[in-house]
Amino acid sequence: MSRTFYVNGEFVPEADAKVSVLDRGFLFADAVYEVSTVLDGKLIDNRAHLARLSRSLGELAMATPASDDDIVAAQLKLLELNHVDEGLLYLQVSRGVADRDFGFPKNPVSSLVMFTQKKSVVESPMAERGMRIVAMPDQRWGRRDIKTVQLLAPSLAKQAAVDAGVDDAWMVEEGYVTEGTSNNAYIVTEDNVIQTRNLGTEILSGITRTAVLKFAKAAGYTVREAPFTIAEAQAAKEAFITSASAFVMPVVEVDGTTLGNGKPGPVAKELRRVYIETARERQNL
Ligand code: PDD
Repeated sequence: MSRTFYVNGEFVPEADAKVSVLDRGFLFADAVYEVSTVLDGKLIDNRAHLARLSRSLGELAMATPASDDDIVAAQLKLLELNHVDEGLLYLQVSRGVADRDFGFPKNPVSSLVMFTQKKSVVESPMAERGMRIVAMPDQRWGRRDIKTVQLLAPSLAKQAAVDAGVDDAWMVEEGYVTEGTSNNAYIVTEDNVIQTRNLGTEILSGITRTAVLKFAKAAGYTVREAPFTIAEAQAAKEAFITSASAFVMPVVEVDGTTLGNGKPGPVAKELRRVYIETARERQNL
């Protein structure tokens, strides 16, 4: 059975799910997006994703395509139409369609598209074995706090990592790790401190990051929000990443150095378990 897509107010089959070649998302990457995870048929932290979407739109002076309540209603209908129990929901807003011009169109009408992808998010071979990471230069633009669809630099870094036989890249700028290609990066230091880069324009403020740091503090861990180097990551007891689709994913190798005994560490395992348990207790938030 084919999937239903959402395109500007319509629920349509894939063959009809089309945007114009003049869409500014296509021509200028003038678009922002969000990925929410679906677990037990419910969206995890969806309101927080919509709040970040609103912020991204505001930072780019892009019009809001619909109210949050209307977006949520469309999201839930899409999940239902596609019978998604576990996976993700992708949402993208572009500045709309206009003749090609670097300046913004006069009266732009934002476009909103959404689709779902079924995926097993809880059961994960990667969570069992842990990720292997390489370091790559961060070649992205200066406003990584805005979730734009300019994903060529992280896509190239991810592919270079895959070509090198590992799972992902941690991007490095001026000697410090910024984040993963589509996730936030963490280490657990010798003195058991969970360290992740502080928020700023250099990284995306992950919705999963906010949740996981809250759980970590509640569980009694000390959290340090500060940049770290690849050498510090290699000397760490353990490491992990977070993102909507990966939750908490352990890292067992950084740029050729095995961490600890090469197995997922206890902190990452505990935070993954707590994150999934808490998500399961909540309703379409
Ligand atoms: N990526 N940093 C970057 C650069 C990201 O692209 C993402 C998410 C994150 C984690 O954010 P969150 O916890 O809100 O998912 C951090 C999504 C999942 C993606 O592009 O598929």
